[in-house]
Amino acid sequence: MKTEFRPEPLAQLSTSALVAYGYEGAPASSGTVERLPAETRNLLQQLQTAGELTGKAFECTILCWPAGMTASKLLVVGAGKSEKFSERHLRHLVGAAVRNLRSRGVRELAWILGSPEPGAVASVVDGALVADYDADSYRTERNGEKGIDSLLLATGGEALASEAEAALNRGRILGEAQNFARELVNEPSNHMTPTRLAERASEMATRFGLTCEVLGPEEIQALKMGALCAVAQGSPEPVRLIIIRYVPEGAPEQPVIGLIGKGITFDSGGISIKPSENMHEMKTDMAGAATVLGVMQAIAQLKPRVRVTALIPATENMPSGKAYKPGDVITSMSGKTIEILNTDAEGRLVLADALTYAKRLGCTVLIDAATLTAAVMVALGTFTTGVFGWNKDWVNRVLAAANVAGEKMWQLPVDDEYRELYKSSIADLANTGGRYGGAITGAMFIGEFAGDTPWVHLDIAGTRWANDEKPYRAKGPTGHGVRTLVQLLTDFAP
Ligand code: BES
Ligand code: MN
Ligand code: ZN
Repeated sequence: MKTEFRPEPLAQLSTSALVAYGYEGAPASSGTVERLPAETRNLLQQLQTAGELTGKAFECTILCWPAGMTASKLLVVGAGKSEKFSERHLRHLVGAAVRNLRSRGVRELAWILGSPEPGAVASVVDGALVADYDADSYRTERNGEKGIDSLLLATGGEALASEAEAALNRGRILGEAQNFARELVNEPSNHMTPTRLAERASEMATRFGLTCEVLGPEEIQALKMGALCAVAQGSPEPVRLIIIRYVPEGAPEQPVIGLIGKGITFDSGGISIKPSENMHEMKTDMAGAATVLGVMQAIAQLKPRVRVTALIPATENMPSGKAYKPGDVITSMSGKTIEILNTDAEGRLVLADALTYAKRLGCTVLIDAATLTAAVMVALGTFTTGVFGWNKDWVNRVLAAANVAGEKMWQLPVDDEYRELYKSSIADLANTGGRYGGAITGAMFIGEFAGDTPWVHLDIAGTRWANDEKPYRAKGPTGHGVRTLVQLLTDFAP
């Protein structure tokens, strides 16, 4: 999607579709509708009086050859209640316009900038890109091919802030990063094997000037990553550990932020096999990895002044004659022994070794993103990511970043009393803590391997995938988490 600013007076802007929005109750005389020529506004006023234009959120009203204007079409998007207006809402409004116009075969749209502020500019570009994505890469007749080619940001002659160009770029980077993560999550496991995930990671790294290192089975065994190896041993697909480093010039030695993404390319449950209903959804069990890769792609371009190391343990979790079994005791890289009570609690095992290795590589802060538990979906549903950690400062930083980024996240507790639940009668730890508080014990198990290093865990099991289509985004992979972590990291000055 090409993006550019256009300075012409709105009436003279030659485009396939000009888009304006107006608020609920008075759509013909509010929002950016106010900036349209009087002739057009009069017509809209009549539609409003006739009850055809209400301004309810995401209502789309189209006028062809609007009076007094050069544009071929005018789309008026309902902006809902004006009190609810925010950057998140703005992204959704643009998104609704994009998806509505695409369905009409329109390839170019001109969005009237309500505010020339950088935040608004970034939101418009970002919202358009995210809306233009469909999980259709495996359809022979693709929707995406009917996507928007060109997004014009119409200023109507108003002066732009000097940062406007940078804001446009930031919006593009964020939207593309989120869509990159969504694309990876959508891939079926026969295409997205651990090997292929590593290739995609290294292609991205090369393209954006990051260094990428991929470890294979022998190297991972040599590092004594007993937990990662145990999960991987049931699958004929070779295990991978992906490491990507971002070391910007002039960045201080510390902190080094370790971003760790769960990369289970298919989670059958292993010997503790899952029921077949919905098992196909477990191709998305590498959404944490996808989030981390999206974040790395974005920061490689936004260049915050902070060191970041991404680590992705990538493997399938499969049953076979070689698979690890309930009752097995394994030794993790940290030396801690783990009794396996359920082979379906594999995410915490692969993350345990990845966290240990992250510390060895010099990471001073650890943040992991993982589709870890069904329990977090029971607790928070599918719209809100669970946030866990002992370090109040870093948990609060993540929550604040989520708030700015417009992603819903909510802190759940960690507490010593829960440690009883994942004690083993024969080893240092057991890999499950029972049904109650499952998201908490899963998180705390990972935290055992962070030790004293500040650590935050994001359980994105519920938010990784949207089961419904919205006016502003497709059903399917969400890329949830990318915006928050990019926000967190870009808080460090460039
Ligand atoms: N990948 C799953 C968690 C999951 C479930 C993600 C549904 C997305 C949707 C994870 O590996 C898992 O199987 N967790 C178990 C843990 C249990 C055995 C302690 C779970 O949540 O049931
Ligand atoms: Mn599992
Ligand atoms: Zn899993």
